[in-house]
Amino acid sequence: MKLILISFWFTAFTLFGCSQSDRSAESVAAQPKETIAMIGTGDMGDSLGVRLAELGYTVIYGSRSPDTDRVRALVAMTGNGASAATQVEAAQRADIIFLPINWPAMETAARNLGNLDGKIVVDISIPWTQGDDGYPESMLETSSAELIQKWNPGAKVVKGLGTAGSMIIDNPATVDGPVTIPLASDHRDAKERVAQIVNELGLDPVDFGPLRMASSIEALAIIYMIPLLQRRTEEWEFYFRRNADWVCQWQDHWSTPVFDADELAEMADSQDPPVPCP
Ligand SMILES: NC(=O)c1ccc[n+]([C@@H]2O[C@H](COP(=O)([O-])OP(=O)(O)OC[C@H]3O[C@@H](n4cnc5c(N)ncnc54)[C@H](OP(=O)(O)O)[C@@H]3O)[C@@H](O)[C@H]2O)c1
Repeated sequence: MKLILISFWFTAFTLFGCSQSDRSAESVAAQPKETIAMIGTGDMGDSLGVRLAELGYTVIYGSRSPDTDRVRALVAMTGNGASAATQVEAAQRADIIFLPINWPAMETAARNLGNLDGKIVVDISIPWTQGDDGYPESMLETSSAELIQKWNPGAKVVKGLGTAGSMIIDNPATVDGPVTIPLASDHRDAKERVAQIVNELGLDPVDFGPLRMASSIEALAIIYMIPLLQRRTEEWEFYFRRNADWVCQWQDHWSTPVFDADELAEMADSQDPPVPCP
Protein backbone atom coordinates (compact mmCIF):
# COMPACT_ATOMS: atom_id res chain seq x y z
CA MET A 1 0.00 0.00 0.00
CA LYS A 2 2.81 2.36 0.93
CA LEU A 3 4.56 1.60 -2.36
CA ILE A 4 1.39 2.41 -4.25
CA LEU A 5 1.08 5.71 -2.46
CA ILE A 6 4.72 6.55 -3.13
CA SER A 7 4.30 5.79 -6.83
CA PHE A 8 1.11 7.78 -6.91
CA TRP A 9 2.74 10.78 -5.31
CA PHE A 10 5.90 10.43 -7.36
CA THR A 11 3.93 10.89 -10.56
CA ALA A 12 1.74 13.56 -9.09
CA PHE A 13 4.53 15.63 -7.66
CA THR A 14 6.63 15.73 -10.80
CA LEU A 15 3.75 17.63 -12.34
CA PHE A 16 3.62 20.21 -9.61
CA GLY A 17 6.93 21.64 -10.65
CA CYS A 18 6.08 22.17 -14.30
CA SER A 19 2.44 23.22 -14.03
CA GLN A 20 1.11 26.62 -13.18
CA SER A 21 -2.60 27.13 -12.79
CA ASP A 22 -2.48 30.65 -14.20
CA ARG A 23 -0.60 29.50 -17.31
CA SER A 24 -3.05 26.66 -17.96
CA ALA A 25 -6.04 28.91 -17.39
CA GLU A 26 -4.68 31.38 -19.94
CA SER A 27 -4.02 28.71 -22.55
CA VAL A 28 -7.46 27.16 -22.06
CA ALA A 29 -9.16 30.54 -22.33
CA ALA A 30 -7.27 31.29 -25.54
CA GLN A 31 -8.35 28.10 -27.28
CA PRO A 32 -11.57 27.91 -29.27
CA LYS A 33 -13.94 25.44 -27.67
CA GLU A 34 -14.17 22.21 -29.61
CA THR A 35 -17.26 20.20 -30.40
CA ILE A 36 -17.52 17.23 -28.05
CA ALA A 37 -19.44 14.05 -28.82
CA MET A 38 -20.93 12.36 -25.76
CA ILE A 39 -21.56 8.78 -26.88
CA GLY A 40 -24.09 7.51 -24.36
CA THR A 41 -26.77 9.48 -22.55
CA GLY A 42 -26.81 7.68 -19.21
CA ASP A 43 -25.66 8.72 -15.76
CA MET A 44 -22.15 9.83 -16.74
CA GLY A 45 -23.06 11.02 -20.24
CA ASP A 46 -25.64 13.50 -19.01
CA SER A 47 -23.40 14.73 -16.17
CA LEU A 48 -20.42 15.32 -18.46
CA GLY A 49 -22.55 16.75 -21.27
CA VAL A 50 -24.21 19.35 -19.08
CA ARG A 51 -20.98 20.41 -17.39
CA LEU A 52 -19.03 20.66 -20.65
CA ALA A 53 -21.77 22.78 -22.22
CA GLU A 54 -21.63 25.08 -19.19
CA LEU A 55 -17.93 25.48 -19.94
CA GLY A 56 -18.68 26.59 -23.50
CA TYR A 57 -18.22 23.36 -25.44
CA THR A 58 -20.74 22.41 -28.10
CA VAL A 59 -22.05 18.98 -27.10
CA ILE A 60 -23.51 16.42 -29.49
CA TYR A 61 -25.03 13.44 -27.76
CA GLY A 62 -24.58 10.20 -29.65
CA SER A 63 -27.49 7.94 -28.81
CA ARG A 64 -29.19 4.82 -30.05
CA SER A 65 -32.42 6.80 -29.74
CA PRO A 66 -31.65 10.49 -30.42
CA ASP A 67 -35.29 11.33 -31.22
CA THR A 68 -36.86 10.22 -27.95
CA ASP A 69 -38.42 12.66 -25.49
CA ARG A 70 -35.79 11.69 -22.92
CA VAL A 71 -32.88 12.67 -25.16
CA ARG A 72 -34.66 15.80 -26.39
CA ALA A 73 -35.11 16.87 -22.77
CA LEU A 74 -31.42 16.26 -22.12
CA VAL A 75 -30.46 18.35 -25.15
CA ALA A 76 -32.71 21.18 -23.95
CA MET A 77 -31.26 21.02 -20.44
CA THR A 78 -27.70 21.01 -21.84
CA GLY A 79 -28.09 24.14 -23.96
CA ASN A 80 -25.22 26.04 -25.61
CA GLY A 81 -26.18 24.69 -29.04
CA ALA A 82 -26.32 21.05 -27.93
CA SER A 83 -27.86 18.47 -30.23
CA ALA A 84 -28.35 14.73 -30.54
CA ALA A 85 -27.61 12.33 -33.35
CA THR A 86 -26.78 8.71 -33.90
CA GLN A 87 -23.55 7.57 -32.29
CA VAL A 88 -21.59 7.52 -35.55
CA GLU A 89 -22.93 10.92 -36.67
CA ALA A 90 -22.01 12.49 -33.35
CA ALA A 91 -18.52 11.01 -33.44
CA GLN A 92 -17.92 12.20 -36.99
CA ARG A 93 -19.04 15.78 -36.24
CA ALA A 94 -16.90 16.10 -33.11
CA ASP A 95 -13.26 16.88 -32.38
CA ILE A 96 -13.25 15.13 -29.03
CA ILE A 97 -15.29 12.01 -28.24
CA PHE A 98 -16.23 10.83 -24.77
CA LEU A 99 -17.37 7.22 -24.38
CA PRO A 100 -19.62 6.90 -21.29
CA ILE A 101 -20.85 3.46 -22.31
CA ASN A 102 -21.09 0.26 -20.32
CA TRP A 103 -18.87 -2.65 -21.05
CA PRO A 104 -19.51 -5.01 -22.94
CA ALA A 105 -21.70 -2.74 -25.13
CA MET A 106 -18.53 -0.71 -25.70
CA GLU A 107 -17.07 -3.10 -28.24
CA THR A 108 -19.86 -2.78 -30.79
CA ALA A 109 -20.18 0.94 -30.18
CA ALA A 110 -16.46 1.78 -30.32
CA ARG A 111 -15.92 -0.30 -33.45
CA ASN A 112 -18.68 1.50 -35.34
CA LEU A 113 -17.99 5.20 -34.89
CA GLY A 114 -16.42 5.63 -38.33
CA ASN A 115 -12.97 6.98 -39.04
CA LEU A 116 -11.62 8.49 -35.82
CA ASP A 117 -8.13 9.30 -37.12
CA GLY A 118 -6.67 12.26 -35.27
CA LYS A 119 -9.63 12.62 -32.90
CA ILE A 120 -9.23 12.52 -29.14
CA VAL A 121 -11.24 9.67 -27.63
CA VAL A 122 -11.78 9.71 -23.87
CA ASP A 123 -12.57 6.31 -22.38
CA ILE A 124 -14.18 6.58 -18.95
CA SER A 125 -15.54 3.05 -18.87
CA ILE A 126 -14.95 0.51 -16.14
CA PRO A 127 -15.20 -3.03 -17.56
CA TRP A 128 -16.28 -4.85 -14.41
CA THR A 129 -18.69 -7.59 -13.55
CA GLN A 130 -19.74 -9.28 -10.31
CA GLY A 131 -17.83 -12.44 -9.52
CA ASP A 132 -19.37 -15.57 -8.04
CA ASP A 133 -18.19 -14.46 -4.59
CA GLY A 134 -20.11 -11.19 -4.86
CA TYR A 135 -17.06 -9.03 -5.35
CA PRO A 136 -16.36 -7.12 -8.57
CA GLU A 137 -13.83 -8.36 -11.06
CA SER A 138 -12.43 -7.03 -14.31
CA MET A 139 -13.92 -8.44 -17.50
CA LEU A 140 -10.66 -7.94 -19.41
CA GLU A 141 -7.07 -9.13 -19.27
CA THR A 142 -5.96 -5.86 -20.78
CA SER A 143 -8.00 -2.64 -20.49
CA SER A 144 -10.96 -1.10 -22.27
CA ALA A 145 -8.84 1.86 -23.33
CA GLU A 146 -6.18 -0.33 -24.97
CA LEU A 147 -8.86 -2.25 -26.86
CA ILE A 148 -10.54 0.95 -28.04
CA GLN A 149 -7.13 2.17 -29.25
CA LYS A 150 -6.57 -1.15 -31.05
CA TRP A 151 -9.97 -0.95 -32.77
CA ASN A 152 -9.30 2.69 -33.75
CA PRO A 153 -5.54 2.86 -34.35
CA GLY A 154 -5.62 6.42 -35.76
CA ALA A 155 -7.47 7.82 -32.75
CA LYS A 156 -5.76 9.34 -29.72
CA VAL A 157 -7.25 7.42 -26.83
CA VAL A 158 -7.01 8.84 -23.31
CA LYS A 159 -8.10 6.90 -20.23
CA GLY A 160 -9.56 8.92 -17.43
CA LEU A 161 -12.52 10.25 -15.42
CA GLY A 162 -13.86 6.78 -14.62
CA THR A 163 -12.43 7.10 -11.12
CA ALA A 164 -14.92 9.86 -10.25
CA GLY A 165 -18.61 9.26 -9.69
CA SER A 166 -21.19 11.27 -11.62
CA MET A 167 -22.08 13.27 -8.51
CA ILE A 168 -18.49 14.57 -8.41
CA ILE A 169 -18.68 15.49 -12.10
CA ASP A 170 -21.95 17.31 -11.37
CA ASN A 171 -20.40 19.28 -8.53
CA PRO A 172 -16.76 18.72 -7.53
CA ALA A 173 -17.26 21.10 -4.60
CA THR A 174 -19.47 18.53 -2.85
CA VAL A 175 -16.33 16.82 -1.56
CA ASP A 176 -14.73 20.03 -0.35
CA GLY A 177 -11.67 20.17 -2.55
CA PRO A 178 -10.22 19.00 -5.86
CA VAL A 179 -10.51 15.33 -6.76
CA THR A 180 -7.46 13.91 -8.49
CA ILE A 181 -8.10 12.35 -11.90
CA PRO A 182 -5.44 9.92 -13.23
CA LEU A 183 -4.97 10.09 -17.01
CA ALA A 184 -3.11 7.66 -19.27
CA SER A 185 -2.44 7.81 -23.01
CA ASP A 186 0.21 7.11 -25.60
CA HIS A 187 -0.52 10.53 -27.11
CA ARG A 188 0.98 13.31 -25.06
CA ASP A 189 -0.86 16.14 -26.87
CA ALA A 190 -4.21 14.43 -26.33
CA LYS A 191 -3.46 13.77 -22.68
CA GLU A 192 -2.58 17.42 -22.17
CA ARG A 193 -5.78 18.60 -23.87
CA VAL A 194 -7.92 16.25 -21.76
CA ALA A 195 -6.05 17.42 -18.66
CA GLN A 196 -7.08 20.99 -19.47
CA ILE A 197 -10.70 19.89 -19.74
CA VAL A 198 -10.44 17.98 -16.46
CA ASN A 199 -9.06 21.13 -14.88
CA GLU A 200 -11.88 23.23 -16.32
CA LEU A 201 -14.34 20.79 -14.75
CA GLY A 202 -12.85 21.67 -11.35
CA LEU A 203 -10.89 18.43 -11.02
CA ASP A 204 -7.18 17.79 -10.64
CA PRO A 205 -5.49 15.87 -13.51
CA VAL A 206 -2.39 13.77 -12.96
CA ASP A 207 -0.29 12.01 -15.59
CA PHE A 208 -0.33 8.26 -14.95
CA GLY A 209 1.80 7.55 -18.02
CA PRO A 210 1.24 5.46 -21.17
CA LEU A 211 -2.03 3.81 -22.13
CA ARG A 212 -0.93 0.49 -20.69
CA MET A 213 -1.53 2.10 -17.27
CA ALA A 214 -5.24 2.20 -18.11
CA SER A 215 -5.71 -1.22 -16.56
CA SER A 216 -4.43 0.14 -13.25
CA ILE A 217 -6.80 3.10 -13.47
CA GLU A 218 -9.68 0.73 -14.20
CA ALA A 219 -8.65 -1.41 -11.23
CA LEU A 220 -8.71 1.66 -9.00
CA ALA A 221 -12.22 2.45 -10.20
CA ILE A 222 -13.40 -1.12 -9.67
CA ILE A 223 -12.78 -0.83 -5.93
CA TYR A 224 -15.66 1.66 -5.83
CA MET A 225 -17.97 -1.20 -6.52
CA ILE A 226 -17.02 -3.36 -3.52
CA PRO A 227 -19.25 -1.75 -0.86
CA LEU A 228 -22.02 -1.24 -3.41
CA LEU A 229 -22.09 -4.86 -4.57
CA GLN A 230 -21.71 -6.09 -1.01
CA ARG A 231 -24.69 -3.96 0.02
CA ARG A 232 -22.68 -2.53 2.88
CA THR A 233 -24.42 0.37 4.51
CA GLU A 234 -21.38 2.44 5.48
CA GLU A 235 -20.51 5.65 3.68
CA TRP A 236 -18.62 4.45 0.66
CA GLU A 237 -18.06 7.27 -1.79
CA PHE A 238 -14.32 7.82 -2.04
CA TYR A 239 -11.83 9.41 -4.43
CA PHE A 240 -8.18 10.26 -4.91
CA ARG A 241 -6.63 13.48 -3.72
CA ARG A 242 -3.05 14.65 -3.70
CA ASN A 243 -1.40 14.99 -0.33
CA ALA A 244 1.34 17.60 -0.25
CA ASP A 245 2.66 16.32 3.10
CA TRP A 246 4.26 13.40 1.32
CA VAL A 247 6.67 15.73 -0.43
CA CYS A 248 8.26 16.74 2.84
CA GLN A 249 8.59 13.16 4.05
CA TRP A 250 10.34 12.07 0.84
CA GLN A 251 12.43 15.14 0.02
CA ASP A 252 15.58 13.20 -0.92
CA HIS A 253 13.58 10.98 -3.24
CA TRP A 254 12.12 13.89 -5.17
CA SER A 255 15.57 15.35 -5.87
CA THR A 256 16.47 12.50 -8.26
CA PRO A 257 15.56 12.86 -11.98
CA VAL A 258 12.17 11.83 -13.28
CA PHE A 259 12.30 8.56 -15.28
CA ASP A 260 10.19 9.72 -18.22
CA ALA A 261 10.71 13.48 -18.06
CA ASP A 262 10.62 13.86 -21.85
CA GLU A 263 7.32 12.03 -22.11
CA LEU A 264 5.58 13.56 -19.13
CA ALA A 265 2.57 15.65 -20.07
CA GLU A 266 2.32 19.17 -18.77
CA MET A 267 -0.95 19.26 -16.95
CA ALA A 268 -3.17 22.00 -15.75
CA ASP A 269 -2.82 22.27 -11.99
CA SER A 270 -5.97 23.00 -10.05
CA GLN A 271 -4.31 22.89 -6.65
CA ASP A 272 -2.61 25.65 -4.78
CA PRO A 273 1.20 25.37 -4.72
CA PRO A 274 2.34 23.05 -1.93
CA VAL A 275 3.31 24.66 1.34
CA PRO A 276 7.15 24.74 1.68
CA CYS A 277 8.57 21.94 3.82
CA PRO A 278 9.89 22.93 7.27
N1 LIG B 1 -22.18 6.38 -13.27
C1 LIG B 1 -21.03 6.70 -12.70
O1 LIG B 1 -20.98 7.39 -11.66
C2 LIG B 1 -19.74 6.22 -13.33
C3 LIG B 1 -18.55 6.61 -12.72
C4 LIG B 1 -17.36 6.22 -13.30
C5 LIG B 1 -17.35 5.46 -14.47
N2 LIG B 1 -18.53 5.09 -15.02
C6 LIG B 1 -18.46 4.29 -16.26
O2 LIG B 1 -19.05 5.06 -17.29
C7 LIG B 1 -19.72 4.18 -18.20
C8 LIG B 1 -21.17 4.64 -18.31
O3 LIG B 1 -21.76 4.53 -17.03
P1 LIG B 1 -23.21 5.08 -16.75
O4 LIG B 1 -23.42 4.96 -15.29
O5 LIG B 1 -23.37 6.41 -17.39
O6 LIG B 1 -24.10 4.00 -17.51
P2 LIG B 1 -25.63 4.12 -17.97
O7 LIG B 1 -26.34 5.10 -17.12
O8 LIG B 1 -26.15 2.75 -18.05
O9 LIG B 1 -25.50 4.74 -19.44
C9 LIG B 1 -24.78 4.07 -20.45
C10 LIG B 1 -25.23 4.58 -21.80
O10 LIG B 1 -24.55 3.83 -22.81
C11 LIG B 1 -25.41 3.70 -23.95
N3 LIG B 1 -25.54 2.26 -24.27
C12 LIG B 1 -26.04 1.29 -23.49
N4 LIG B 1 -26.05 0.10 -24.14
C13 LIG B 1 -25.55 0.35 -25.35
C14 LIG B 1 -25.32 -0.47 -26.49
N5 LIG B 1 -25.62 -1.78 -26.50
N6 LIG B 1 -24.79 0.10 -27.59
C15 LIG B 1 -24.50 1.42 -27.61
N7 LIG B 1 -24.69 2.25 -26.55
C16 LIG B 1 -25.22 1.71 -25.45
C17 LIG B 1 -26.78 4.24 -23.57
O11 LIG B 1 -27.00 5.50 -24.19
P3 LIG B 1 -28.19 5.66 -25.27
O12 LIG B 1 -29.41 5.04 -24.66
O13 LIG B 1 -28.32 7.13 -25.47
O14 LIG B 1 -27.75 4.95 -26.52
C18 LIG B 1 -26.71 4.38 -22.05
O15 LIG B 1 -27.47 5.43 -21.58
C19 LIG B 1 -19.58 2.77 -17.64
O16 LIG B 1 -18.54 2.10 -18.28
C20 LIG B 1 -19.25 3.00 -16.19
O17 LIG B 1 -18.48 1.96 -15.65
C21 LIG B 1 -19.72 5.44 -14.48
